[in-house]
Formats: sequence, C-alpha cells, structure tokens
Amino acid sequence: MRKGEKGILIGSVVVVGLVIAVRFMMGHFDASDDKGIPFYSTASPELRMAAMKIYKQENCKNCHTLWTVRDMMRKVPAPALDGIGSLHDEQWFYEYFSAPDPQQIVPSRLKEEFRMPSFAFLSEQERRTLAQYMASLKVEDWYLPAVKKDEYEKLTGKVFNQ
Ligand code: HEC
Repeated sequence: MRKGEKGILIGSVVVVGLVIAVRFMMGHFDASDDKGIPFYSTASPELRMAAMKIYKQENCKNCHTLWTVRDMMRKVPAPALDGIGSLHDEQWFYEYFSAPDPQQIVPSRLKEEFRMPSFAFLSEQERRTLAQYMASLKVEDWYLPAVKKDEYEKLTGKVFNQ
C-alpha cells in the first residue's frame, strides 16, 4: 500500500468510528425516560469554592448528602442538600444557620447528637456564603416533587402520600 492510500484508509476508519459513536450517543440522549441529572447550581466557581471550604471544615457531609456524596460511615437520616435551594431561599438559609436553636425553625425527630447543629458561631460572612451557596442548589421542575417527598420523609420519618 502506498503512503497516500494508507492515509485514506486510516481516515475512513476514523470517520466510520465517529459516525457510530455519535449515533450511539444520540440513541442514548433520545431515550425519553432518561431526562438526565436533575440537580444543578447557579453558583459562580468562586462562591462554590468558598462555600465548599466551610462545608468541609464543618463536616456537613457527616450527616448530609450533596452531589450524591456523603460519609458512608455515618447514617444520620438528614435531608439531602441536592436541590435544597428550590425549597428555601437565601434569607431562610441565613436565618437557619444563624439560629442559636435551629430546631425552632425545623423541628427534629432525632436524638440530640444527630440533630442539625447551630452554626451561629461562624462569622457573618461564612454564614452568608453558605446561605448563598445553598440557595444556588436547584432542582429541575420535573424532579421537584421527588425532592419534596424525600425531604418530608427525612424530616418526619413518615411516608409521604399526597
Ligand atoms: C450532626 C449532623 C449534622 C451536621 C454536621 C449538619 N447537619 Fe444540617 N441537618 C441535620 C439534620 C438531622 C437536619 C434536619 C433537621 C433536624 O433534625 O435537626 C438538618 C437540616 C439541614 C438543613 C435544612 C434542610 C431542610 O430540608 O429544610 C440544611 C440547609 C442543612 N441542614 C445544612 C447543613 C450544612 C450547610 C451543614 C454544615 C455547615 C450541616 N447542615 C451540618 C444534621 C446535620
């Protein structure tokens, strides 16, 4: 085979491969029952980084799931934080984190040690950053009922039937 012919052969193989790959992917995205991941954040990269620093430092993941990540060793049935910004607004989060007794805002069904701690000891800036980030954690409308159901069941320990 001459050099030119070899090039054409390789080129054709690549093109055919690409066509197959694209068809495969389109088939995947077309599937009408697969709407993809419903969670997204409207936060800037700066806000996300600043908030996640506090999130790690305060071990929120010991009790909560976020972006499906949680500490597998702990089994606290706290609500997931994915999509939580579609349930409350920034001001609500700020007041909740600032409350000396968060259970006055969201009652708990859990033992003392598993309850949402007060974060009133954080600086105002830190509480605002956390609140802003929580408010940015949105869920697509089609998945909102599932998030509400999950929150209700985690908070009350009862089955949601509505
Ligand atoms: C010791 C476990 C624990 C830790 C640590 C913790 N939480 Fe919570 N959190 C809970 C529980 C449990 C609830 C549900 C209310 C209750 O039982 O007190 C809750 C409730 C919440 C809610 C309200 C959820 C809703 O559905 O209304 C938000 C928001 C929240 N936590 C964010 C955070 C953030 C951010 C951090 C870290 C800065 C954090 N939590 C740390 C256990 C925890």
